[in-house]
Amino acid sequence: MSDGEKIRVMIVDDIVDTRDQLEKLLFFEKDIEVIAKASNGREAVALAKQQRPDVILMDINMPDMDGITATEAIMTQDPTVQVIIMSVQGETDYLRRAMLAGAREFLTKPISADDLYKSIRHVYKLATTRPRPVVGGAGPGVAVAGEGGAEGQIIAVFSPKGGVGTSVVAANLAVAIRQLTSKKVALVDANVLFGDLSVILNLRSDKTIIDLAQRVDELDRDLINDVLTTHTSQVKVLLAPPDPQRGELVSSDHIRAILEALKQEFDFVIVDTPASFQDRSLAVLDMATRIVTLLTLEMHCIRNIKLFLEVADLLEYPHEKVMLVLNKASNRTGIRAEDVEKNIQRKIQLQIGDAGQEMTFSINQGVPLVIGKPTHQVVRDLGVLARELSTAAKPVTAASAAAPTTEAAQKSSGLFSRLIKR
Ligand SMILES: Nc1ncnc2c1ncn2[C@@H]1O[C@H](COP(=O)(O)OP(=O)(O)OP(=O)(O)O)[C@@H](O)[C@H]1O
Ligand SMILES: [Mg+2]
Repeated sequence: MSDGEKIRVMIVDDIVDTRDQLEKLLFFEKDIEVIAKASNGREAVALAKQQRPDVILMDINMPDMDGITATEAIMTQDPTVQVIIMSVQGETDYLRRAMLAGAREFLTKPISADDLYKSIRHVYKLATTRPRPVVGGAGPGVAVAGEGGAEGQIIAVFSPKGGVGTSVVAANLAVAIRQLTSKKVALVDANVLFGDLSVILNLRSDKTIIDLAQRVDELDRDLINDVLTTHTSQVKVLLAPPDPQRGELVSSDHIRAILEALKQEFDFVIVDTPASFQDRSLAVLDMATRIVTLLTLEMHCIRNIKLFLEVADLLEYPHEKVMLVLNKASNRTGIRAEDVEKNIQRKIQLQIGDAGQEMTFSINQGVPLVIGKPTHQVVRDLGVLARELSTAAKPVTAASAAAPTTEAAQKSSGLFSRLIKR
């Protein structure tokens, strides 16, 4: 925000006292100005058109037109406006619908002054720092994502347990999707502290995610083109910083902005996601079209998977967003996949076999198995996964995955505080 410019806020609530109270709370904030008040959804739609507020505080239950219908109508007429839904406890279903309607944030009544200020500034900042739409002709090797300029898909490869193969599967999957579709594929090393895609793919570059994080306000095709490293498969790779100290400089907001920009440029953005519930991982998971969730037939991994599925439900990720994939599948572990399915009450959608030493060899050579051993059974398994994702993933994006993405994109305060807010 430039000096002297204020965040223009509209308050929508049918209770006059609530409107007045909110206005009083905002009165002394130098950077915020209440420019309009409405007592129902219909009035809000008309006023929003006239007054063009930056942020709207919207009640849900109102006579004549409710807050969700109003949000939908307002977002259609002006998609840049930021709507914060105000609700009372226990209106989770409404909240979900509100998020689908395009609301950016929600506050539970009674609303504390602090939460109110924070939310308004946060959504306003989000709107102003969103990556600029990419304009101009395609640079070498990079073109507009998806036919007809549609957004690409973000595929997070993730496991709540470290060491189960997330990085090798992400790398091989990216190459396999590229081979299968010839579309534009990016691979992101979101392990900003201990990334290892550069080793797995034998890539060397001094340009890393840091170079995009430092310039999130300038993310455009040229910058992306300049920073991503081209693998021989034509997959474009965003490498992790060379050391954890520099990795610490990359925040979850950076990751969100970078993924947002990449999905404008690429048809598929595959993300090697750190095995944690820290903000950086959550940012990736929230934004993903699909989460390829890896598990192995080991008790501690299965336990973590169970916990993750519970968390995914609490975060209201649609079931089809989370795709369970068994890695290093083998019948020599003493645990059967069917028993795991019974235990976690979810289907394992796909299995990738155990390539044993050949996987280690491929890592040491820096040549992904899908290139070095194209007829290997594990490569066939990866091919099935690539086909499944490149053909079937799209329908999940639009409505069902949009809600948690939009909603959660506002919350950068860690898993715990997000869950207790529900
Ligand atoms: N399908 C497979 N067959 C054989 N070995 C595999 C397979 N998948 C992964 N591995 C092996 O598992 C080990 C861990 O792989 P990787 O580094 O990809 O795991 P990760 O989940 O990314 O680990 P971290 O949590 O440390 O990032 C490696 O030695 C790799 O060779
Ligand atoms: Mg890894």
